[in-house]
Amino acid sequence: MRAAFPGWRLAVFTGNPDLGHRIGLRAHKQYALRNGPLEAKLLLMEVPELDADASPEGASPRRSEGAQMFANRLEKNRKRLKKWLKQSGESCYRLYDADMPEYALAIDVYGDRVHVQEYAAPRTIDAGQAQKRLFEALAVIPEVLEVDPTRVVVKRRERQSGSAQYQKQGASGERFEVREGRARLWVNLRDYLDTGLFLDHRPVRRMLGEMSPGKRFLNLFCYTATATVLAALGPRAAEGTVGATDSVSVDLSNTYLEWAQDNFTLNGLDPSRHRVVRDDCLRWLEAAEGEFDLIFMDPPTFSNSKKMEGTLDVQRDHGRLVRLAMARLAPGGTLVFSNNQRRFKLDADLAEHYAVEEISSKSFDMDFSRKPGLHHVFLIRHREAV
Ligand SMILES: C[S@@+](CC[C@H](N)C(=O)[O-])C[C@H]1O[C@@H](n2cnc3c(N)ncnc32)[C@H](O)[C@@H]1O
Repeated sequence: MRAAFPGWRLAVFTGNPDLGHRIGLRAHKQYALRNGPLEAKLLLMEVPELDADASPEGASPRRSEGAQMFANRLEKNRKRLKKWLKQSGESCYRLYDADMPEYALAIDVYGDRVHVQEYAAPRTIDAGQAQKRLFEALAVIPEVLEVDPTRVVVKRRERQSGSAQYQKQGASGERFEVREGRARLWVNLRDYLDTGLFLDHRPVRRMLGEMSPGKRFLNLFCYTATATVLAALGPRAAEGTVGATDSVSVDLSNTYLEWAQDNFTLNGLDPSRHRVVRDDCLRWLEAAEGEFDLIFMDPPTFSNSKKMEGTLDVQRDHGRLVRLAMARLAPGGTLVFSNNQRRFKLDADLAEHYAVEEISSKSFDMDFSRKPGLHHVFLIRHREAV
């Protein structure tokens, strides 16, 4: 309103006067009215003239000190990533991750759109304060990033109980295409908690692309199968489809498997060579036959999806999962095993049976390098092959 309608009068009719106060303009008149059975208020406000209290750069007027510091931090992070973004050509990246604890947000840029996740505030933080800061941040983000506010999507990220994480949040159907290396991928910022593309795993996908030429590739817990797309396309510097010759991508969710197939179509991958399978990975592995030269297994930290028996807990179950995956790995092949469990500890038993190399510290691009505990990545091979 300040930017588009300076000098206008604004009337807001709301059933939530508390939120009305957070608009950041003072109401000079209030009328208590009813909206059917609901108590409501009509708030009248004056939108200030632009130059009356605009900051020198013409940015939003009267930022609080905290909001200004938050804006400065976004600018600083942009500068820090600028060279890397130019060199890498990436258009999807993490810009900010609760760098200032009082603005507890993760901000990811997807092309010309922005995905903001609000971390649930600890109980010690006053809910009103947290909300005020969120609104401040939401005013700052479009200005600093120079994007239209309608292209900023906000979600609250809470510790999810099991399958809630994968449930639908909306039905906008608003998906759009982004690029990662040579891959073209569908993302959707609005309808699910996750976007279809986990940005922290970009280096792992790139590595899979480098390792994949001529290989038979297996992607377990494939989600939207972005890793399969990168593996099938092959090394970043190559041209055409010169990566994995064949692949199988397994996931429990039909929705994500359809999304995976749309990603394959977008990249011209042959569906007779790149198959998707809907199954519980444990069950599938127990019955599976055949060999793969390269396997990527990135299970969720926890899952209690109704579509599978029991629950999956990566800390508890990874030993069994890794052993079953290794039974499908051809001699000389590599299993890339990763997960996002913060305090993950690999079963000591696995390192006795297999050649295990942890590459977590090398598995972050610059946009995630300041939060290096976000995931763990291991390369696991048969001992005789080493
Ligand atoms: C954390 S995501 C995996 C991310 C993915 N590997 C990637 O790189 O984008 C978790 C995925 O596991 C799937 N999932 C959860 N439990 C499963 C199970 N028991 N078997 C197969 N897929 C499962 C979910 O449907 C979801 O797509």
